[in-house]
Amino acid sequence: MLRWPPGVGKTSLGQSIARALGRKFVRVALGGVRDEADIRGFRRTYVGALPGRILQGINRVGSNNPVLMLDEVDKLSSGLQGDPAAALLELLDPEQNRVFVDRYLDIPFDLSRVLFICTANRTDTIPPALLDRMEVLELAGYTETEKLEISRRYLIPRQQEEHGLANRELSISDEAVRRLTRDYTREAGVRNLEREIGALYRKMATRLARGEAIPTHISAEDLDELSGVPRFRKDTLLGEDEVGVATGLAWTPVGGDVLFVEVSVVPGSGQLILTGQLGDVMRESARAAMTYARSRSDALGIPRDFARKHDVHIHVPAGAVPKDGPSAGITIASALISALTGRISRKRVAMTGEITLRGRVLPIGGIKEKFLAAQRMGIRKVIVPQENAPDIREVPTETRNQLEIILVNHMDEVLPHALDAEAEKEGNEGHVQANSSGN
Ligand SMILES: Nc1ncnc2c1ncn2[C@@H]1O[C@H](COP(=O)(O)OP(=O)(O)O)[C@@H](O)[C@H]1O
Ligand SMILES: [Mg+2]
Repeated sequence: MLRWPPGVGKTSLGQSIARALGRKFVRVALGGVRDEADIRGFRRTYVGALPGRILQGINRVGSNNPVLMLDEVDKLSSGLQGDPAAALLELLDPEQNRVFVDRYLDIPFDLSRVLFICTANRTDTIPPALLDRMEVLELAGYTETEKLEISRRYLIPRQQEEHGLANRELSISDEAVRRLTRDYTREAGVRNLEREIGALYRKMATRLARGEAIPTHISAEDLDELSGVPRFRKDTLLGEDEVGVATGLAWTPVGGDVLFVEVSVVPGSGQLILTGQLGDVMRESARAAMTYARSRSDALGIPRDFARKHDVHIHVPAGAVPKDGPSAGITIASALISALTGRISRKRVAMTGEITLRGRVLPIGGIKEKFLAAQRMGIRKVIVPQENAPDIREVPTETRNQLEIILVNHMDEVLPHALDAEAEKEGNEGHVQANSSGN
């Protein structure tokens, strides 16, 4: 099975494997499949009965040893009409698939010569018994340089051809491709990048059709006019350093991402308010961060009774995907301590790591995806748990070299990198004054 984010080439790789083996290629989309009968066929007693998708596919290519891609196994769902995962289990078992019986055909069919490849964006939604049958290959996404190379070799020639411009001299500079990657897309794969390249050629084709002249070369500067306003300017996305906001790195099924944790401390009665559709595990991280901050109040110069006289509001702005998991722990703690002390948080420093009540930093998953996301976002420094050091070796060298990596065992080691040493002097409303504890 290939567990890769979208647009990283799972489907294309399946096709390439089939081509290299000289076999036919069949893709069976499993996204949204809920009934066992979709896979195993409907009995002929039903009106409109059909064979299942597997044998339909095999029939379509007319070969009994194709490469058969079970696309998006993570999006199978279990409905009322039997469990499709159970049917897959049988399909992938070499002992059983020799005599696979489609209910429509009702005679055994030998699937043992089929090469099955499954794809998924995540493995946690796949039934363990099914996952057990597979060898999982993981890919985190492409670096900027890899995207450039893929564009040069495949995406640009293909888009040029598809827009009927194959015979024209019309190149796109490397710098323009890098800029498209950086400022116009934000993805692990190359699907949107290909769309942006396609849009450039479409503009050129339109101009030609109108009888207008077109250039022979598109440079990075031309993008302002041709591709419009950049959608993802990293500097504006990160914004100014401020009090109470810290930058975290997250793993999501579509690759790594950067998230922001915001904390406000306001006069109140000791409530902890958590918003932003956080999952249970992330809520627990927030409580652990609170306890750590309270236990360190003397050293940090926070009044001991801050928790009684203030409400703490922790918010993680909604991204495209639901947020959960323990890895935001040290990010929440940094944002919280920034808010409590008035020390400015450095937003270009991104972090990931679980926090314990005593401030120990525990290892987390998805390092490779997170580092790629940091690089995409123009982050310069990342803070990660010491125990994740072995995982860092797997991060592409290009990505590693662009990041200053700080390994930590404890929250006390995080703060000097994440926050300015001194509290901001003026104009900061949120933080708790050390001298306000007495009134
Ligand atoms: N390594 C690569 N080399 C060439 N093209 C690639 C590569 N990775 C992705 N692509 C291109 O990106 C697009 C999306 O790939 P696709 O196979 O549909 O991704 P997935 O199935 O993982 O979502 C396709 O047009 C594919 O040709
Ligand atoms: Mg695909």
